[in-house]
Amino acid sequence: MPSVSRFEVPDLGIGVGFRVPHYRQVVDERPEMDWFEVISENFMVDGGRPLHWLDRLADAYPVVPHGVAMSVAGVEHPEHTARLRTLLDRLAPPWFSDHLCFTGTEALTTHDLLPVPYTDAVRDHIVDRIKRVQDVTGRLFAVENVSSYLTYKASTVPEWDFLADVLERADCAMLLDVNNIFVSAQNHGFDPAVFLDALPHDRVVQIHLAGHSIKDGYRLDTHDAPVCDEVWDLYAAAVRKVGSVSTLIEWDGHIPTFERLQQEARRAREVRDEALS
Ligand SMILES: [Fe+2]
Repeated sequence: MPSVSRFEVPDLGIGVGFRVPHYRQVVDERPEMDWFEVISENFMVDGGRPLHWLDRLADAYPVVPHGVAMSVAGVEHPEHTARLRTLLDRLAPPWFSDHLCFTGTEALTTHDLLPVPYTDAVRDHIVDRIKRVQDVTGRLFAVENVSSYLTYKASTVPEWDFLADVLERADCAMLLDVNNIFVSAQNHGFDPAVFLDALPHDRVVQIHLAGHSIKDGYRLDTHDAPVCDEVWDLYAAAVRKVGSVSTLIEWDGHIPTFERLQQEARRAREVRDEALS
């Protein structure tokens, strides 16, 4: 039987990312879509056009903020946390998310979601950062697994055990990105089923789906293509484990028409319904 989230957050259905080419169509026409995810940092501003779009979006749909710059394995930037809290107070979402990664050092921001060494010291640091951001914001945080192209000799456990340990110790939720599992599994040669099995399934509150590309023998998490067949299969396997949780399709490059995104969302609903039947 699929497990039920311990956090009692709503299943928002199938959603997509709110992206610039669709802003006007979405807020003016309110096309059929269950919910939207927004990139937190794009709306952590004092006013102006971004908040105008955001407020109109939130009038019509559930909206969940998804960050790319918290850098939970790096140092905290109090200004970032304060602005994030303001955004969360504005939207009052059932959870918010960012990645299990670091994005640079105090002196350098790479804008990449870099994987971390899986050690006790890194785990303890990440757990402290997650506990603090949940305390400061008063809201449930969901940490997302990233795709990776390298591993560290210093790691003492596999990624899935590290993630499970972080989730339990920080008492936070998980955003499970099945495309990222597939990309990393292909790049590093592990079995995605082992990854899925090792997670605390009742902590998963959201699933990400996305397309990727292949370059020089590596899978790259480019979000610029339809979801591939293997990732649809992995999505079905994930749904059978975690149950009926909110699903979101990420499509950030070669962004298609909104109608094409609706088509992809319909397929996700079909796969999800089939997996749960
Ligand atoms: Fe993702």
